[in-house]
Amino acid sequence: MIKGKGFEMPQVAIVGVGLIGRAWSNVFARAGWDVKLFDAHQETLAEAPERIRQSLEDLVEKGGLVTDAAAAAGRIRVAASLADAVAGADLVQESGPERIADKIAIWKELDAAAGTETILASSSSAIVASRFSEDLPGRARCLIAHPVNPPHVVPIVELCGAPWTDASVIQRAREIYESVGQVPVEVKKEIDGFILNRMQAVLLSEALRLVGEGYVSAADLDKTIAHGLGLRWSFMGPFETIELNAPGGIRDYCERFGPTMYELSKLPVTEELWSEANIDRILESWGRKPSPEEIAAKSQWRDERLAALVQHKRQRPDYD
Ligand SMILES: NC(=O)c1ccc[n+]([C@@H]2O[C@H](COP(=O)([O-])OP(=O)(O)OC[C@H]3O[C@@H](n4cnc5c(N)ncnc54)[C@H](O)[C@@H]3O)[C@@H](O)[C@H]2O)c1
Repeated sequence: MIKGKGFEMPQVAIVGVGLIGRAWSNVFARAGWDVKLFDAHQETLAEAPERIRQSLEDLVEKGGLVTDAAAAAGRIRVAASLADAVAGADLVQESGPERIADKIAIWKELDAAAGTETILASSSSAIVASRFSEDLPGRARCLIAHPVNPPHVVPIVELCGAPWTDASVIQRAREIYESVGQVPVEVKKEIDGFILNRMQAVLLSEALRLVGEGYVSAADLDKTIAHGLGLRWSFMGPFETIELNAPGGIRDYCERFGPTMYELSKLPVTEELWSEANIDRILESWGRKPSPEEIAAKSQWRDERLAALVQHKRQRPDYD
């Protein structure tokens, strides 16, 4: 059982407190969890609590997703070691480097150190859990919980077990992420890129084709998503979208538009779309060369706008 129903607060260990680990800390701390941090890099670990506190403050001011930043920040502790971080944890959210050798090493240590009831989740974007959990004695409690950057603002989390992950672990993980305000979805069997990145990859490849072959400018393509498809997609997915695009729903839509949609999507994705020559064409069309500082400032602006949008959606949960 997850703690928190009696005297003890539930506890999460965040292992790796880079970009994603810090964002996860924000999510759990603001939901009332005790958070213990560990990172192999001492300086990163030492400065993490202050950076997380700042991100909590930012959300109070700009997003309204956090009401009491000081109380949330007060639940965060730096652990002396990985074993100290995971001791007594209900959940470990591993957010170390996306390299298989690192995942194997970290997970061996995690499985040995964590109590048998602790769920071990990895934030990994592309490495499936079977690649680093197969030989672990506690492999049945291991899974991927893949967030989207930045998870303290964007709620989706893709849960994907290895073939040996216990179904009850996926279920408990689902309850945990829901309880802290995230939106978990289950990827029922391992596939590279899980769901979100596979959808994104297809859309990006088509965008590279349309701009690279001169059908539209990069700026106008972006407007097509931001002011067209993306508006609907901010509160409904492609199936609900097409259900509403024909009076008789999805089957009616497919009968009316299926042959056309098939024709439009049947060109194969080729390596050429992602070649340097094509990226040069995209950048020429894009015309902008933002500095790292400008990219950081725009990312901050994006997070603020996303937080406001998430707040709007929370006020109308019937749209979720
Ligand atoms: N950045 C994204 O957009 C994004 C999105 C979703 C998921 N992810 C996934 O989240 C994970 C972390 O990504 P990130 O962008 O935060 O990377 P990052 O490089 O910012 O952070 C990784 C952290 O792990 C630490 N680390 C290295 N070895 C360690 C060890 N043995 N024990 C503990 N900590 C260790 C590093 O010092 C660093 O602070 C990756 O698996 C990545 O694929 C990233």
